[in-house]
Amino acid sequence: MSALRVAIVGCGKISVNHATAVHAFQDAELTAFCDPELGRAEALRDRFGTGAVYSDFSTLLAEQSPDVVCICTPHPTHEKLVLEAVAAGAHVLCEKPLAVELDSAQRMIDAARDAGVRLGVLFQRRYWPAARRIRAAIDDGLFGTPVLGECTVQLGRDRAYFEADAWRGKWSTEGGGVLMNQGIHYIDLLQWFLGPARTVTGHISTFRHGDYIEVEDTAVATVEFTSGALATIRATSIAAPGLGARVSVTGDNGATASITEFPEGQPACNDVWAVPGQEEYTLPWDPAIDSDPPLSAIHERLMPYHRLQVEEFLTAIAADRAPEIDGVSASHALQIVQAIYESSRTGRKVRLAD
Ligand SMILES: NC(=O)c1ccc[n+]([C@@H]2O[C@H](COP(=O)([O-])OP(=O)(O)OC[C@H]3O[C@@H](n4cnc5c(N)ncnc54)[C@H](O)[C@@H]3O)[C@@H](O)[C@H]2O)c1
Repeated sequence: MSALRVAIVGCGKISVNHATAVHAFQDAELTAFCDPELGRAEALRDRFGTGAVYSDFSTLLAEQSPDVVCICTPHPTHEKLVLEAVAAGAHVLCEKPLAVELDSAQRMIDAARDAGVRLGVLFQRRYWPAARRIRAAIDDGLFGTPVLGECTVQLGRDRAYFEADAWRGKWSTEGGGVLMNQGIHYIDLLQWFLGPARTVTGHISTFRHGDYIEVEDTAVATVEFTSGALATIRATSIAAPGLGARVSVTGDNGATASITEFPEGQPACNDVWAVPGQEEYTLPWDPAIDSDPPLSAIHERLMPYHRLQVEEFLTAIAADRAPEIDGVSASHALQIVQAIYESSRTGRKVRLAD
């Protein structure tokens, strides 16, 4: 089998994780990098020492015919790039969120299916061993039926973070705030544990960053799942210091387990594993920890899990099977985020489509 030819589109901060993972994968080669800011594509190419650089994606597709395209650009740009890539016959691994609107996500899912190519979406936190341990324990019946969930996201962001990249903080270029950008990772875990959501009630607000962002910096919501399970979501980017994130699940047999990520980017641990017969408790809090590491450190700590998901995706492509996290799977968290926005706007409980 010849190596998969992989192109990276969007050569900003997170593209390094994709390129590192592809570079390390035995049966893939980095063949092209694209960014309208060509210097960024050149810098990434130089770091890995291989591949052509482009400022225009259509030209890249025409000249390189990549087998796989990794999309690492701001949220509302994903659809155009995904549609162009799949029309050219490339499989696509897109950064989260796949889209900022469900209709847009559906168009990408349909286009990939019609073109006969695979569409995967990055939610690398599902590859944390602590998260997989909960999913496996649910599958093994150790929680009976999961009936209660909690998702708490208390991250620290400041003015400099929002002003560093012009696309952040605006509805038109980011599509949302703490829910759409950061919270969606943990909402994805919540629904991975509890199954499809049925109704959502939520409120969003902007308490601390309002002088320089228009999207929400804080949100709360309650979710009812089709199984009957209930959950709360609390997300903010105003915590100072940042306090990481936590997702927990309780079963109707009383078993509870949670994962805590602290500081942000640190692989989560099962801080509570109160499963009958196998109880373990870990207290991760240490005041000496740097609770607000720089984004580069956060991304570096996430690297091994990006790598696991990129490997899984490339292995799926080589084996001609669907990736673990495809467009449909990735749309569930987006559906909950969009429902929180709608509920906050209308003041009503939102019933989700199947
Ligand atoms: N999975 C994770 O943990 C994680 C972490 C950080 C970011 N992300 C996601 O990755 C994506 C990018 O985030 P980032 O922090 O790297 O942003 P960034 O601003 O650092 O990089 C984005 C890059 O895309 C380029 N770009 C913009 N429009 C483009 C286009 N049409 N074609 C090609 N390139 C284009 C920009 O010039 C920039 O270099 C977002 O979807 C974000 O949510 C995911």
